[in-house]
Amino acid sequence: MGARQYQRSKSGIFPIWKAADRNARSDLVVPPWIRSSMSPLAQNEATASAAPRASGPVDPAYRQIRDLIYNVSGIYQLEEKLYLLGEACSRRMKEVGIATPRDYWETLTAVAGPGSELRSLLNEITIGETCLFRSQPQLDALRKVIVPEFLRQKGKQATKKLRLWSAGCSTGEEAYTLAMSMLEEREGLLKGWQVEIVATDLNDHSVETAQAGIYGDCAFRNTADHFKRKYFVPIGEGKFRVRPEVRKLVTCGRLNLKDDSAISAMAGVDVIFCCNVLIYFDGPSKSRVVEHFFDNLNFGGYFFLGPSESLFRLSDRFHLVHFPGTVGYWKPAPTSGKA
Ligand SMILES: C[S@@+](CC[C@H](N)C(=O)[O-])C[C@H]1O[C@@H](n2cnc3c(N)ncnc32)[C@H](O)[C@@H]1O
Repeated sequence: MGARQYQRSKSGIFPIWKAADRNARSDLVVPPWIRSSMSPLAQNEATASAAPRASGPVDPAYRQIRDLIYNVSGIYQLEEKLYLLGEACSRRMKEVGIATPRDYWETLTAVAGPGSELRSLLNEITIGETCLFRSQPQLDALRKVIVPEFLRQKGKQATKKLRLWSAGCSTGEEAYTLAMSMLEEREGLLKGWQVEIVATDLNDHSVETAQAGIYGDCAFRNTADHFKRKYFVPIGEGKFRVRPEVRKLVTCGRLNLKDDSAISAMAGVDVIFCCNVLIYFDGPSKSRVVEHFFDNLNFGGYFFLGPSESLFRLSDRFHLVHFPGTVGYWKPAPTSGKA
């Protein structure tokens, strides 16, 4: 067991989870200020619908589209990767029959919300790489250290509830992994406790897949056979559906981490997993999301990032905690020092 680097919280203040907001959808709206702040396109812009090549000239419309995506989602496209955005736009333009990047930008900014072309483009550009049991050290930290610690802190409360949030859950594997890990404790540590897991993502298609809870071989590449047998039902053609006892612990919904009011509605959570999501954001957008996470966590709550990520230069409000094979971030109670 690694050295603990924090003072323990003795306080137990747990804000009420806003149940009514849990399934709230955050619909994207392009604020007028974004549209109006964008410079008019240069007169001599290239009008070819072909995507910019890695070394070729970039149509100015693609930079405007990049800025639009950044403003609505926090996802930042590096200049040298702009051609990838161009390729995604080209696929969408072909799909909807738009000839030029400029016309496409007009379409993206004309209408927002569900079913809009902007939503389709966001669905196209988000990267949903994930699998079940992606980070065993995080799961061990949760089961062996964090849950026992919560039970000690919260055990005296009338309502015995644990609330976990998989933020940027992609197709749901992370959330179902958490659900299975918690179910393993249901006859032991968590007997008599209610566990709620919320799984949210920006990508509409990913959220639909998460809701269905049906996975193929690729999702199981890190999964021990006994977990697969215990918690999934084969439904043919190499697919497996998560069992109802796992499914019912997880609530799936669309939530854009750039949407301040949608994130604020997630207050009162004990553990947040936001793994491999903020890598697509730039510094200011990351900081903003991390500040929200801090505010949303109950005192004594934990926050996990992906293995290549850290809060270095993003926030000093959390305490870094070392677990075997991983680190987590802990929100201390106000009385326990730095808050
Ligand atoms: C690489 S996946 C990570 C999945 C999972 N957390 C894991 O570590 O296995 C990144 C996810 O972040 C989501 N994402 C990107 N920007 C987002 C935003 N602004 N709001 C919510 N989700 C976002 C993407 O749609 C994608 O599903």
